Amino acid sequence: MKRIIAPSLLSANLAFLYRDIKMLNESEADWYHIDIMDSSFVSNISFGSSFVKSVKKYANKNKSMDVHLMIMQPERYIEQFKVCGADHLHIHYEACIHLNRTIFSIKESGMKVGIAVNPHTPVYLLQDIIQDIDFVLLMSVNPGFSGQKFIKKTYQKLEDTKDLILKKHSSALIEVDGGVNLENASLLFKNGADILVAGTTIFSNENPQKMIHRMKFGKT
Ligand code: DX5
Ligand code: ZN
Repeated sequence: MKRIIAPSLLSANLAFLYRDIKMLNESEADWYHIDIMDSSFVSNISFGSSFVKSVKKYANKNKSMDVHLMIMQPERYIEQFKVCGADHLHIHYEACIHLNRTIFSIKESGMKVGIAVNPHTPVYLLQDIIQDIDFVLLMSVNPGFSGQKFIKKTYQKLEDTKDLILKKHSSALIEVDGGVNLENASLLFKNGADILVAGTTIFSNENPQKMIHRMKFGKT
């Protein structure tokens, strides 16, 4: 089990984006999580690929750009996000008709691929693609907004995902996204999460770097 922290820039102060990127560069955070929303798959609009390009320009080159596409037909934008600097591309199970083809297109472009599942989507639906992907992104809120309450059913889904990975001899890592805070972070890591995404918990704290440290290593 890894203990990777991926702060979500959806909660950054966009008027001071460079300051927040610099703060993350100098922190113990491992990745930059960037949420792309199209107002169709989710009822919100966020950033496009140019945002990824801007963050990449000032980001620590040792930390990955973890891009979460909450958009319909994500296959239309694979090349665009690759060119703009994405290292990982997460697409939603619910947004893709030809999931197998899209997974392989992402891999062929040289990025790692994650499949995100909404809270209502059972993870057994990933059984025929689990060996082909790098990450399972478990949504622990209904996607679209930061600052929502963690859905406790996620603990059961974490179990189900671990079982599926084991059964299918997959090397996929498990990422949990939404409502992650200092209270549930250690339990999620203990229960098999490899990566935690957090927006509000990190950026609304008066000392975000300390919060990242505490989420990663426990409360002390
Ligand atoms: C939700 C996004 C999350 C969000 C997390 O649709 O995918 O990445 O930014 O924000 P918090 O941590 O505030 O729930
Ligand atoms: Zn996300």
